[in-house]
Amino acid sequence: MIRLSQADHTFIEQIMAEPGGENLLTCWSCGTCAATCLVRRFDSSFNPRLTLHQAGLGLRGLVLSSSEIWQCSACDACYPRCPRQIHISEVMGAIRSVAIREGFHSPGPSALVDEQVCSGCAVCTRVCPYEAIDRVALGEHMVAHVNADKCMHCGICMASCPSGAITLDTFSDTELVSRMFADGWLGQPGYLDGGSTIPRILVFVCQWSVRTDAELQRVYNLGSQVRVVNLPCSGRVDPAMILTALNDGADGVLLAGCQEGECHYKRGTLLGRSKVGLLRALLAQAGIAQERLAFVELGAFDRYVLSGLVQKMLHSIESLVAAAVLE
Ligand code: FES
Repeated sequence: MIRLSQADHTFIEQIMAEPGGENLLTCWSCGTCAATCLVRRFDSSFNPRLTLHQAGLGLRGLVLSSSEIWQCSACDACYPRCPRQIHISEVMGAIRSVAIREGFHSPGPSALVDEQVCSGCAVCTRVCPYEAIDRVALGEHMVAHVNADKCMHCGICMASCPSGAITLDTFSDTELVSRMFADGWLGQPGYLDGGSTIPRILVFVCQWSVRTDAELQRVYNLGSQVRVVNLPCSGRVDPAMILTALNDGADGVLLAGCQEGECHYKRGTLLGRSKVGLLRALLAQAGIAQERLAFVELGAFDRYVLSGLVQKMLHSIESLVAAAVLE
């Protein structure tokens, strides 16, 4: 039960005065946003409809103390489906602005910068989709500084840092590399090097891109020929990890990300695709078959695409060996 005395109309006015917050009361509370929200795939308690409804009722304390206002990544998957054409992420952003002004902060996690290692090159400030990183003076040097209230812990900055100065609690380099090598899957000559009797592919998968468990199961059904390593976003992939895999026994590497425009972290698809494109060009210059590395975008309604591509890559690697035998 909500008592009228709990409603704080100045809270509504504060939100609506923020850029993007003016649509707060336009919401019909139909729930279409909640039905399409990707965050709910991992946290079913997250409900943007409910947050906007509570904010529209002026429930200041309830809304501002909620951890949910920090979870929207502004992917805008809900926007095209909203019958009122509300940018929910902008309203969420307006609520967050009010929260920060009143002393509330994101519960995190966020990226961390080792200031002793950071060279201040500012690559991270350019790639961050949330403008969450700027540079501050540390003595005579400039170093990166993460605004934890803006950071969505996508890991894009970490994968782009040339100094290795940025870390995340989850999806750390150590964690990802240990998943690649677990059970001795890497670290032995691959099929192309005459070691393994079957071709094997490492598949990096953005955790938001495969929308059905059945599709992942189809990939898992390929058994030891495929090793799946989840990423928070395709933009999180570190080129060094791809090269390590190819060098340590993987015959191929496939990076799967969300379709352009559907990336949960806005520009991860662009970065993931660019990294693979650059690496493929480098592989070609080194005389290594480009078929061994690919990037695929998975749309919200794609089915069988990932499993089909994995099988196609396995076949093309077999063809490479067959062609070498014939030469
Ligand atoms: Fe899937 Fe960025 S979240 S590619």
